[in-house]
Amino acid sequence: MISSDFRLFMGQLLRYPRQVVALAPSSDRLAHEMAARVYPEDGPVIELGAGTGKITRAILGRGLPADQLHVIEVNPDFCAHLHMRFPNLNVYQISAGNISDLPVAQVQAVVSGLPLLSMPIALQRAILTGAMAKLGAGADYVQFTYGPFPPVAKPVRDELGLSWDVSGRFWWNMPPARVYRFRQALATDGHPTRAVPFRPLRTLPRLDIPQDKTRP
Ligand SMILES: C[S@@+](CC[C@H](N)C(=O)[O-])C[C@H]1O[C@@H](n2cnc3c(N)ncnc32)[C@H](O)[C@@H]1O
Repeated sequence: MISSDFRLFMGQLLRYPRQVVALAPSSDRLAHEMAARVYPEDGPVIELGAGTGKITRAILGRGLPADQLHVIEVNPDFCAHLHMRFPNLNVYQISAGNISDLPVAQVQAVVSGLPLLSMPIALQRAILTGAMAKLGAGADYVQFTYGPFPPVAKPVRDELGLSWDVSGRFWWNMPPARVYRFRQALATDGHPTRAVPFRPLRTLPRLDIPQDKTRP
């Protein structure tokens, strides 16, 4: 059986292949890894490129109130779907390159499903620079990638002084993917900032966010 989320995703993939880029929505396991270090009491989160909301659901499943989640998605049909599926979510139909315009600061994480690797470097630079300015101390920019290398171009990594850690491969995702967590290790003037360890994992009870039960 094909869910309505999957049909919507495939329809938009056919219409906007250069924006959607993936073959299918993220798997549950990949989505849970993307959301694994979100905590309900640690403040707002920004999500980039939410699509049908697979990672959105995982973030809310961590117990974050929906009004603390700020979602940027460029595609109008995905935005309408997110509004309908997740009441109280803050949805902005803009390009992620305009992340600086969001009325939120000191976020605990920026979680991105954007196809960064297929974006021009100027757009990557705008997204990463804007995201770093939104992050609170010790907070990460979380990004999955299907490729074998870090999904942020080297010149942008070097300019922003980014360091990262990376997960194992999620083989059952289509295509298989890894999760990178980027953070600014150097200030933009090239001097080291204080060394803050990566956010530790704390266990939380899993909340049940309703799945798409619609059938064709
Ligand atoms: C690979 S899909 C990921 C969808 C979803 N996060 C998931 O994991 O299933 C990429 C998403 O990024 C969105 N997108 C692409 N370029 C964008 C941009 N410049 N600004 C905001 N969203 C963008 C696409 O519309 C699409 O929803």
